[in-house]
Amino acid sequence: MSIYFDNAATTPMHPEVVKVMSDMMLNNFGNPSSTHAAGREVKTMIEDARRTVAKLMGCTPGEIFFTSGGTEADNMAIRKSVEDLGVKHIITSPIEHHAVLHTIEELAHQGKVAMHLVKLTPNGHIDMADLERLLQENPSALVSLMHSNNELGNLIDIAEVGELCKKYNAYFHCDTVQTVGHQPIDLSKLNVTFIAAGAHKFNGPKGVGFIYINSAVKIHPYITGGAQERNMRGGTENAYGIVGMAKALEIAVANMEHDKAHLTDLKKYFIEQLKAHIPGVQFNGDAEGRSAYTVLNVSFPPTPIGEMLLFKLDIAGICASGGSACSSGSNIGSHVLHAIGADKNRPAVRFSFGHQNTKAEVDTAIQALVEMLKPKEQAVN
Ligand SMILES: Cc1ncc(COP(=O)(O)O)c(C=O)c1O
Repeated sequence: MSIYFDNAATTPMHPEVVKVMSDMMLNNFGNPSSTHAAGREVKTMIEDARRTVAKLMGCTPGEIFFTSGGTEADNMAIRKSVEDLGVKHIITSPIEHHAVLHTIEELAHQGKVAMHLVKLTPNGHIDMADLERLLQENPSALVSLMHSNNELGNLIDIAEVGELCKKYNAYFHCDTVQTVGHQPIDLSKLNVTFIAAGAHKFNGPKGVGFIYINSAVKIHPYITGGAQERNMRGGTENAYGIVGMAKALEIAVANMEHDKAHLTDLKKYFIEQLKAHIPGVQFNGDAEGRSAYTVLNVSFPPTPIGEMLLFKLDIAGICASGGSACSSGSNIGSHVLHAIGADKNRPAVRFSFGHQNTKAEVDTAIQALVEMLKPKEQAVN
């Protein structure tokens, strides 16, 4: 059985979520748009799910729209800001997820917006003074900054960024894909225009997510077709996914305090063990500062096995993600590590944690790493 330290990529589904979804698949197959009883009961389940999600996020049900996941929600926030809100300038950072960066780059390439990249501090945080300068220079912009960086774990202060956006009359899209269900988010207290979420990051099903659209802004349909999602996104709803996502969020929020304590301790233990057993180990981003307890990006000392480290971990039964700062040749590398100036000779491995992980798994991973990184004895002739 492998050790799964890749929970920022995706998480295992919670058994209760599987149960709710499979019960529904067996018993409730109606089309939610049908007016007969079979359709109405599924429609009711979707609207109950919307109420649950809204309550847990501190907003109204009318502000939640279900999507196919985080990528679609990011696309919708950015593209609709340009099409419907008259946004001509987008301020973002070089370490956003590609769902955000590639969308803005495409719009910029088409000449629809100007893209402005905010400076980063050496440990990968947003330079708030530079953000304020960009806001001053570009009125009525859209700011798109992620809550927690999926590669580094660095967190922004959403409240602080939201206040700054309000001061300069800017829209604020926060990609919260890595934090919904893991960090407290109370939309009733934040100046945010949009947030994006994907259920598979919080023990829910894949291919479903949501966008929050603050009721103060009005946008037109994103996908034209039927009148689903109050006319905003045509197409028969992913009813099972939506109901499973609401259940997953309910469980994640109920367990948040407990999981936070467990994983904060686990991440600290991982850092301590790495420092104790791997001389010269470093961390990318602000691992021991303002960072999500779910993500740890480790920068290993240069080693002859280099990029093979991740492969060797896989062979040893440890699932993690990697990346390097390379930006040339066949190895495209990580745009995030490149942007923070990480040393491309140091292999980087992202370990990301879920509530099921244990210290015993950390011990196994450390042992495996020590073995892999041990200098090989020179053959004596
Ligand atoms: C920060 C961030 N944004 C967006 C996404 C895309 O989400 P989805 O897989 O639900 O489309 C991810 C997934 O890796 C992510 O980590």
